[in-house]
This record gives sequence, structure tokens and C-alpha cells, in this order.
Amino acid sequence: MQQPVRIAPSILSADFARLGEEVAAVGAAGADYIHIDVMDGHFVPNITIGPDVVRALRPHSSKIFDVHLMVAPADAWLVAFADAGADIITVHPEAGPHIHRTLQEIKRLGKKAGLALNPGTPVGAVEYLLPDLDLVLVMSVNPGFGGQKFIASQLDKIRALRARIDALGKEIDLEVDGGINFDTAKQAMLAGADVLVAGTATFTGGPGAYAENIRRLRQPA
Ligand code: DX5
Ligand code: ZN
Repeated sequence: MQQPVRIAPSILSADFARLGEEVAAVGAAGADYIHIDVMDGHFVPNITIGPDVVRALRPHSSKIFDVHLMVAPADAWLVAFADAGADIITVHPEAGPHIHRTLQEIKRLGKKAGLALNPGTPVGAVEYLLPDLDLVLVMSVNPGFGGQKFIASQLDKIRALRARIDALGKEIDLEVDGGINFDTAKQAMLAGADVLVAGTATFTGGPGAYAENIRRLRQPA
């Protein structure tokens, strides 16, 4: 079942010099999750946030920390991000030799486990994994940078995953990440997504605009 839509601002678009205030501000403005993009300069062509930053942010927000690991191999970092205060840890199947083991390890650490599918990764990557997942993330851009254009072909993937999740009957978040604006948010929701990551669309206009940005993103199609 598609759950009520939740908004997950990606702090990649926040003011990095004031990150604590930024996570507090989007939380007060109605965000549900805080989406934290972790990049290693190897799996993706950018370097962002490490576990110490997540730990430093934790006292500034009681929202769900939705940690998206774009690092390879991911296994070596699971404990550090779990200890730092992640609530959900999402990994890419290409970021390690044994994805099933990685997901079990996230659960063993007491965290929710997510699987992220790149634009070129087929729906079938969730086969044999879906019952163990708490979240499936559909990348609607190639990972690495905020502010890219939504890849419309990923709407089919969202629809296919919606059907699989509904057939299974388990509450699994279906999250879409990349190029979400007020229009693509509606398309993604119609296709079946129930968590919208939004970096640029949340943070544009500065703190005075966050509440209105989040309200508009959440508006049903
Ligand atoms: C891309 C990241 C996204 C990105 C979203 O690798 O996973 O979370 O920051 O940014 P926008 O919403 O600006 O496309
Ligand atoms: Zn992300």
C-alpha cells in the first residue's frame, strides 16, 4: 500500500557552513526525513559527508536520519553510520560483493535497510531482497550531484516496484531521489512513490521558503 507521502530534504543543497541550523529549520518546516547523501569520490564523482558530520547533526534534529550511502565498498562503513545516528541506511547493490549480507548487517545493527537502484539498474535487482527491505530508493538521476534533471524513464520503474511492494503486502517505503520539483513530485507520487527526496526544491529561497516549498512538494497530484 502506498503510504502517506513523506518529504526528505537532501542536505546536499543546504548551507554546509550552517548545517545544524539547516536540519533544524527543515524539520520545523515540516520535513519527515533528513536525507543525508554520503559520497566517497570513488563510487560516485563527488565527496560529501562522513559519519562524524552525521554524529554532529544528530542533536539538532529528532527527525528520521535517512542515510544514502554512495560509497564502495559500503560494508566497512555500516557500523560507523549506525553509531553516528542513522535510522535508515541505504546501499547500492553495485557497492559491494554480497548485497544480501550487507542488508542483513544493517538490520543486525538495529537500523532500517534500504536498497538504491541507479537509473540503469533493473527492477529485478530487488528479487530475493524485497522481503528484507524497509525502503527501496529509485534514483531518478545518476548519483553524485544535486540539481540534475529528472530521468522520466524511472517512472516505469516506480510503477513496477509499487506493484511488487503491494503484492508482498509489507510496508516498504518507495523513495524517489533526484530532480524532484513541484511537477516531478506529482508524477512520482502518481507512479506510486511515497517518500520524495528533494534537495534543490526544498532549499531554494533560503529558510524563509522551506515551509512553503515542503508544503507544495507534498501536495497531491
Ligand atoms: C544524488 C543524491 C540526491 C540529490 C538530490 O546523488 O542522491 O539526493 O542530492 O538533489 P536534487 O533534489 O537537487 O536533485
Ligand atoms: Zn540521495
